[in-house]
Amino acid sequence: MKPKIWLSSPHMSGNELSYIQDAFDANWVAPLGPNVNGFENDLTTYLQEERHVAALASGTAALHLSLILLGVGQGDEVICQSKTFSASANPIIYQGATPVFVDSEEETWNMCPEQLERAIHDRITKGKTPKAIIAVHLYGMPYKADEINTIASKYNIPVIEDSAEALGSLYKGQHCGTLGDFSVLSFNGNKIITTSGGGALVVSTSALKEKAIFLATQARDQAPYYLHSEIGYNYRMSNIVAGIGRGQMTVLDQHVEQRRANYNHYREAFKAHAQITFLKEPEGMTSNRWLTCILLDNETTREGLRQALEHENIESRPLWKPMHQQPVFKAYPHYLNGVSDALFQRGLCLPSGSNLTEEELNRVTSTVHAYFKT
Ligand SMILES: Cc1ncc(COP(=O)(O)O)c(C=O)c1O
Repeated sequence: MKPKIWLSSPHMSGNELSYIQDAFDANWVAPLGPNVNGFENDLTTYLQEERHVAALASGTAALHLSLILLGVGQGDEVICQSKTFSASANPIIYQGATPVFVDSEEETWNMCPEQLERAIHDRITKGKTPKAIIAVHLYGMPYKADEINTIASKYNIPVIEDSAEALGSLYKGQHCGTLGDFSVLSFNGNKIITTSGGGALVVSTSALKEKAIFLATQARDQAPYYLHSEIGYNYRMSNIVAGIGRGQMTVLDQHVEQRRANYNHYREAFKAHAQITFLKEPEGMTSNRWLTCILLDNETTREGLRQALEHENIESRPLWKPMHQQPVFKAYPHYLNGVSDALFQRGLCLPSGSNLTEEELNRVTSTVHAYFKT
């Protein structure tokens, strides 16, 4: 069997170990310490905006805390992009609220502004103004932030920007992760930088950051004994994990370049195949190309290609199945235009790691060429 080629595997720089060693040397083996502060500062500097970053155990924790900070609770409704990974929607259920799913547009594959406005209108007519909008930069491609923010402001609904897949992407020159009222990053093992598992919440004031950290560290009130007047969570990032993050920050730009180079490699390699199309960058948007995705003619071709790759021990994955089609979510309200359903049928994510070698990329492209010749 040929060696496995992964969709997106961790890519260490070698700089991570010295930060971990520092933590061991100082015995900062805790969910606080210099690496946590350092990683938060590195992220704030990178994002180049007046933002405050709280390092957390996961992106999902950051989404959950956003909803809590916005006061989302039992019986509330929260709009969520349907074409996403389930972690965007799960915290709505944790809060006892109802997700309302909104379809995508074709230019970025992200939340469709028209469907968003239709959904808000209809929910208000039915008696409830949604409490938040969760919009997602899927596969690293920015969503149409101006259009989404304009609609959100018109109805006075805060936006939670799910930037889990989009650290390093730009929207009109501004970093993804700074475009929402609350923004979420993930450092899960498959992301553009990883801490093995981890995430961050990006907010606009130091008071919000403090409140997020308070909730993430079991909501301990000021007292010499353990005193609690709110329900807390154990959501803080550890100082060891943050050390990995500090090392990864030294190569984030390189990872973006390498992932963008993968996309260019595939585009060049497949230009003779009329059946294969790519998601282009709309004017003003720069994707980190976290994953390179292709569209095929139909589901049969997509599945045939996926199996041909699997046969060569190459991991690929259909574009995410929309939330309104998921057994666990399909009973919830949804506002659809057919875009995310079609993308799920026709789309495939190709191996996209920043650590892919030329030889591995060539193994992927020659398998695709061979598939189309047979
Ligand atoms: C779009 C999206 N949102 C949220 C998450 C959740 O992040 P985490 O795995 O760090 O909890 C992920 C990734 O896992 C994701 O891809």
